[in-house]
Amino acid sequence: MKIGILSGGGDAPGINAVIRAIVRKGIQDYGYETVGIKDGWHGLVTNEFVPLDISSVSGILPRGGSILGTSRTNPFKHENDPETIMRNARKAKIGAVVAIGGDDTLSIAYKMGDYGLKCVGVPKTIDNDLTGTDYTFGFMTAVGIATEALDRLHTTAETHHRVMILEVMGRYTGWIALEAGLAGGADVILIPEKPFSIKSICKCIEHRQKRGRSFSIIVVAEGAKPKGGKEIVYSESVDEFGHIRLGGIGYYVGKEIEKCMGIETRVVVLGHLQRGGSPTAFDRILATRLGVGAVDLVHQRKFGYMSAVKGNDIVSVALKDVIGKRKTVDLSLYDTASVFFG
Ligand code: F6P
Repeated sequence: MKIGILSGGGDAPGINAVIRAIVRKGIQDYGYETVGIKDGWHGLVTNEFVPLDISSVSGILPRGGSILGTSRTNPFKHENDPETIMRNARKAKIGAVVAIGGDDTLSIAYKMGDYGLKCVGVPKTIDNDLTGTDYTFGFMTAVGIATEALDRLHTTAETHHRVMILEVMGRYTGWIALEAGLAGGADVILIPEKPFSIKSICKCIEHRQKRGRSFSIIVVAEGAKPKGGKEIVYSESVDEFGHIRLGGIGYYVGKEIEKCMGIETRVVVLGHLQRGGSPTAFDRILATRLGVGAVDLVHQRKFGYMSAVKGNDIVSVALKDVIGKRKTVDLSLYDTASVFFG
C-alpha cells in the first residue's frame, strides 16, 4: 500500500515529527510506501508529490514548519476538485491518505471519504481547540513561547511601572492565553469564551496598585471581545473555510485602559513567533506517538478516524465526532488562573 501524507491549515511545531513517524513506522513495520503531498489538499488537486523514504525524513524531528508545505485549500469550494483528487490519487496509486490538520483539513478528509478516498487524520493546531483529543501537538510549544514572552515583559513592565499587554493566537478559544497566562503569572487573562469589561480590568489594575504593585501584565487571545462587542478584525477577507483574520484586540485593550486610568500601556503582538521554530520535547513525543498511531489506523483499515491522545493513551476517534465542533477552555482552569488576578 502507498500512503500519501499531507499537512493542511496553519503550521504547528511538530508536523515534521509526525511525517517522520508515519514514514518510519509505515515502511519499517508494515512495508508500506510513503509519498508526500505538497501544500495540503492543493497538492492532490495539482498533482504535486514528493518522494518520501527513510532517508528523506532523517534529521527532521526537531525542525519547525512542514517539509511538505501547507495551504488552506478547500477542494469543496471549487467545482470538480473532489473528483480531480480521486483521479490523481488513483493515478499516483495512493491507497490511503494521512491528513495532518485541524478542523478544516480533517473535515475535507471526512468528506473525501464519501468519494472513496481512504483517509485517517492526525490532530494539529496550536490553538488546541480540536475536539476528541486532550492535546494537539504544537500547542505546548506555543504556550512555552508565550510564557517566555510574559517573563520578559514582567521585568520591563516592573521597571517602567507600566501595563503591558501580550496578544496571543486563539481565534475561537483561549487555550494559549489561559495556559501561558497561568504559567507566566498574568494579572488578567482575556479569552474568547469570557467576554470582558474594561471596567473590571481597570479594577484589577487598581487593586494591584493599592497593594503596591505599580505594573500589571495582561494576556489577551486574539479572539477575545468586550461584553456586547465583537472581535477586532485585521482584514475583512476570508479564507476558503470562511475564517476572517483577527488581530488588534491588544491595542484596543491598551487604549481603553489608558483612557480609563490615565496610565501608560504597551502592547506586544506575539503573532507567528508562536508557530515557528522547533517543537518542545512534549510536542515531539506527542507528534511522534500520533504519527505512529495514524499508521496503525491505516493498517487496521480504520479509515474516517484520527489518532488522538486521551490521558496517557493514544486512541482512535471518529472524524464525524470531531469536525465542526470546538473544544473550549476548561473554565475550572480559568477559575484557578483568576485567583491571581488583581
Ligand atoms: O492555526 C490556527 C491559527 O494559528 C490561529 O490561532 C490564527 O488565527 C490563525 O491560525 C492565523 O493563521 P494565518 O496567519 O496563517 O492565516
